[in-house]
Amino acid sequence: MALSKEDLRQLYRKRAGLYDLTANLYYLIGFREQAYRKQAVAALGLRRGDTVVEIGCGTGLNFPLLFRAVGPEGKIIGVDLTKEMLEKARVRVKRNGWANVELVHGDAAEFRFPPNLGGIISTFALTLVPEFDRVIRNGCLGLAPGKRWVIFDFKLPSHRAAALFVPFLIFLTRPFGVRRELAERRPGESIKKWLGNLSMTEFYFGFTYIAVGEKGTACQE
Ligand SMILES: C[S@@+](CC[C@H](N)C(=O)[O-])C[C@H]1O[C@@H](n2cnc3c(N)ncnc32)[C@H](O)[C@@H]1O
Repeated sequence: MALSKEDLRQLYRKRAGLYDLTANLYYLIGFREQAYRKQAVAALGLRRGDTVVEIGCGTGLNFPLLFRAVGPEGKIIGVDLTKEMLEKARVRVKRNGWANVELVHGDAAEFRFPPNLGGIISTFALTLVPEFDRVIRNGCLGLAPGKRWVIFDFKLPSHRAAALFVPFLIFLTRPFGVRRELAERRPGESIKKWLGNLSMTEFYFGFTYIAVGEKGTACQE
């Protein structure tokens, strides 16, 4: 069964201390996490001065890339359910002297996206949110026309041979709340539904993907 929000909060409360270290351990199985993060942030097409929202920002592993893209004149808004993950993000922000990062403690499903956003990103988080479709639509309404929503997340692979490894990969990602039931959640489809899909690129045998949607003038259905 998929974990409840309270279960996820408890899980990430315990994981926060060693989150950055354990996330890096996936390199041991050949998962080039940092390269994919760079690709996801590049896909936002951010400009200096933009405001970007990160949903489920965790400890802020994407912040250095986002800061480089928007510059000190831009703004980063990080939203997360788990106070302890945000505390880690706060330490990162302070250590780097970034004055333009706002951290919001709360549920993505309740987050009110500000208007005129330059981009929205979520990495390994949106599939954990049962209301992902609503979050994507709300985000779409906040985006300025021509700006992008980018998701980098897990999914079940479409390739048959890769499907053999599914139990193993679910086992490896279980400590982060991944369960087989989450396969029913397809944020990539919601990107297509609300924004029109610009691209859907699969990596790592189809276990992960980057979905990019660009807002037209409205958020379509
Ligand atoms: C696997 S971590 C990903 C963190 C970060 N995005 C990264 O790429 O390293 C998942 C994060 O999603 C957050 N999360 C889970 N459900 C959420 C929700 N409903 N609203 C906001 N954040 C949520 C968790 O607290 C956790 O920090």
